[in-house]
Amino acid sequence: GVIRQLSGIDEMERLLQEKLNIDKVVIVNGDSDTSPWVIDELGRAGAARMKSLLTGKNIIAVTGGTTMAAIGKMLPNVSELPNVEDILFVPARGGLGKGASYQANTVCEQMAEKMNARYRVLYVPDNLGEAAYNTLTSEPAIGEVLDLLKSSNIVLHGVGEAKAMAERRKVSFSELTELEENQAIGEAFGYYYDEDGNIIQKVRTIGLQLDDLPNVEHVITVAGGASKAKAIKAYIKMAPKKPTLITDEGAAIQLLKG
Ligand code: G3H
Repeated sequence: GVIRQLSGIDEMERLLQEKLNIDKVVIVNGDSDTSPWVIDELGRAGAARMKSLLTGKNIIAVTGGTTMAAIGKMLPNVSELPNVEDILFVPARGGLGKGASYQANTVCEQMAEKMNARYRVLYVPDNLGEAAYNTLTSEPAIGEVLDLLKSSNIVLHGVGEAKAMAERRKVSFSELTELEENQAIGEAFGYYYDEDGNIIQKVRTIGLQLDDLPNVEHVITVAGGASKAKAIKAYIKMAPKKPTLITDEGAAIQLLKG
């Protein structure tokens, strides 16, 4: 529209696509670090992008976090979509510390309700010991969810700052030290990585893994706020499948500077 042209957002999107070497960037006005309502705009844009990709049968994998919760919140109620036969929402991971309202499970349920769709649950803690991990993944009910995740055609996920995410997960002092020593910058899907996109640490999570992404048709990364710019940039370096990026002006300005 005219406003987007006048404010230069269209041009910023084009420049950022070029700079990050990805096909599609959507930028919403504002900076969610300083204006909390901007996260709802990220949610609205993420929801619109997801809806625009739906066709036939869809399995949508969704991670947790406040940005994903905003997508769930901003999704309009829809009873039927043209050319869409089926939609199934599947949580990309079990749990992550406190905050039931932004767990992947909760977000999936909310999205499914809004879209009159089906959903699955995955109730397992993050960061399991090896024995527990092996036992749980061999449970048929959990294995079924993992198979669904592997055959998902759309993945919706957030990106966090490494330190913020480590605090949210209440990691041990030694893990935090390891992250700091290795200059962890960002976190996505339970992977902590540095500025060059090297993986530093991986939380043992039951759910979607980075290696699963190349088989997914559409990956939608939704993350904003100037403070996340470095984490977003490094994620795109690391990502085995180039995503569509939905971000805000705050992050976009930093990304274009760097
Ligand atoms: O893995 C990253 C987090 O999902 C990001 O969480 O949206 O609350 O910042 P957030």
